[in-house]
Amino acid sequence: MAILIDGKKTSQEIQSEIAGRVSEIKAEGGKVPHLAAILVGNDGASQTYVNAKVKACEQVGFESTLVRLEDTVSEEELLKVVEDINENPEIDGLIVQLPLPNHISVEKVTDKIKPEKDVDGFTPSNVGRMALNWPAYVAATPYGIIELLKRYNIETSGKHCVVIGRSHIVGSPMSILMARNGYPGNSTVTLTHSRTVNLSEITQTADILIVAIGKPEFVTANMVKPGAVVIDVGIHRIADTSKKSGFRLIGDVKFGEVAEKASAITPVPGGVGPMTIASLLYNTLLAAEKKVYG
Ligand code: GUN
Repeated sequence: MAILIDGKKTSQEIQSEIAGRVSEIKAEGGKVPHLAAILVGNDGASQTYVNAKVKACEQVGFESTLVRLEDTVSEEELLKVVEDINENPEIDGLIVQLPLPNHISVEKVTDKIKPEKDVDGFTPSNVGRMALNWPAYVAATPYGIIELLKRYNIETSGKHCVVIGRSHIVGSPMSILMARNGYPGNSTVTLTHSRTVNLSEITQTADILIVAIGKPEFVTANMVKPGAVVIDVGIHRIADTSKKSGFRLIGDVKFGEVAEKASAITPVPGGVGPMTIASLLYNTLLAAEKKVYG
């Protein structure tokens, strides 16, 4: 049975480290980190995520501002809100929760965010800096995975790391981070996607398998090399009448059978998910302390 890589516990450790730093900042009379989040519309999942981010800010002693806009807001109006926050010296970090309504260009909005405040790490400036291995705000999910590998002392140098999924938010940055010269990193990386031929043959050679495909229980035990480290980024709700809520959460990996074969694995829930908020808080602390752009 695999070691459980506990994202819930690790994220709590990171949050208490951040809270400790906030206490020091307050004692020194420094600036308390302040995160602003823009939420457009009433998408249920987005509201849940944003509420969790605001609550996490409170827990570590950050200030936060939530700007809620109707889903009928024009692109121009949204860009103006971003600009105002860019220019507001009280606010250190800004996130615009995605997805946005179809009439708004994600590219235009992302490009409007001042890179110095882009704590989601989505702007071209931060993606480029990350790829160059310069100081950067690294997107929350890949950064959370890197932190888990580090805190569980997972050996990555010379290992074959297979990433499933090439999204801008997870798969693509993950492949860059795992290949970079450093720890965690120095892996030989294969980035697989919807056009990959013989996926299962490739995943069977993975020492580290990072799954961000967005398909429930897609990875089965026959696709996994014995002793592999398996990181599951997926999160799906499925109906379960035995639960009070009426549903349970599952990942992109068939947990039970893969856990039998892997040497370490992240559960869903309680794996990668909780780490994303810890990463966002960490980036906001970096922003307040001007550690990335100086
Ligand atoms: N939607 C899904 N994931 C994210 C994220 O990490 N940041 C933002 N802003 N929106 C998201």
